[in-house]
Amino acid sequence: MKKTKRVQQIRKAVIPVAGMGTRFLPASKAIPKEMLTIVDRPTIQYIVEEVVASGIEEIVLITSAGKQAIENHFDYNQELDLLLERRGKLRICEELRHLANLIDIVAVRQKKPLGLGHAIWTARNVVGDEPFMVLLGDDLVVSDQPCAKQMMSLYNEVQESIVAIQTVPLEQTHQYGIVEGEMIRERVYEVKRLVEKPAPGTTSSNLAIIGRYILHPDIFDMLSRTTPGHGGEIQLTDALLALSNKRSMYAYEFEGDRYDAGDKMGYLKAIIAFALRHPELKDEFRRHIKEVAAAS
Ligand code: UTP
Repeated sequence: MKKTKRVQQIRKAVIPVAGMGTRFLPASKAIPKEMLTIVDRPTIQYIVEEVVASGIEEIVLITSAGKQAIENHFDYNQELDLLLERRGKLRICEELRHLANLIDIVAVRQKKPLGLGHAIWTARNVVGDEPFMVLLGDDLVVSDQPCAKQMMSLYNEVQESIVAIQTVPLEQTHQYGIVEGEMIRERVYEVKRLVEKPAPGTTSSNLAIIGRYILHPDIFDMLSRTTPGHGGEIQLTDALLALSNKRSMYAYEFEGDRYDAGDKMGYLKAIIAFALRHPELKDEFRRHIKEVAAAS
């Protein structure tokens, strides 16, 4: 009888939040940028909720000094719980209990901000020898089906690493990691080459990598051999290029809208997008936006 290869499930998600957040200073000086509020919850909560909605079992948070607020946000606070219960604030009490029980979170420290590649490498012992998801702690996707789940469906088919991409204007490619590849079907490309923030005019591809990846565990081996690249940091894109030379890799144009909430303009756009979807706020907010637009 012909044996079919067992699909290894994606059980763990690595979320790096150890960056310095220099683009968001001074707001991010004492408060992690991942804890800045988008409507009624911090950025990181939307990302954790995407992970949970995608059926992943465990989060590996890559943190650094000064980021304890992120772990505390997902922890149980008994004092607050008792106080809210005593005051009869049962709805918010329930919501906080739910938040503390969302998913198991393991935190690992990245001791120096040596780059995204180095942050992922820090997770190697906790992830082990299995494929895993990566979601950047400041990258939000608004979509009907969670972006991570869309990627996991493709993974079940291809069982190789996948980077999420969006098309960007050619004059913006120098701000992103760029994929050069061959389209194999709608939204799916086979990766041929990757380059981190290419100098203007050096690539004809406008396929930009966003903050969602499914990675084969061989990435850790590649990362351990990656030397500092663009900006003097250990770049994940450089390790991905090495991995793509060894194994197949795919780029997936996800369905939805992505917002870089680590950037001031991206953050403002994210607030508008989430407010316009918020069940209790959307109608009044839409009216307000129309009034502001009409008056300007
Ligand atoms: P960014 O490129 O946004 O870098 O990192 P940053 O340092 O956080 O912010 P800026 O550019 O100075 O404003 C993308 C993701 O990778 C994490 C960040 O926390 C963010 O989620 N990261 C980056 C790390 O965990 N460690 C690093 O050394 C660098």
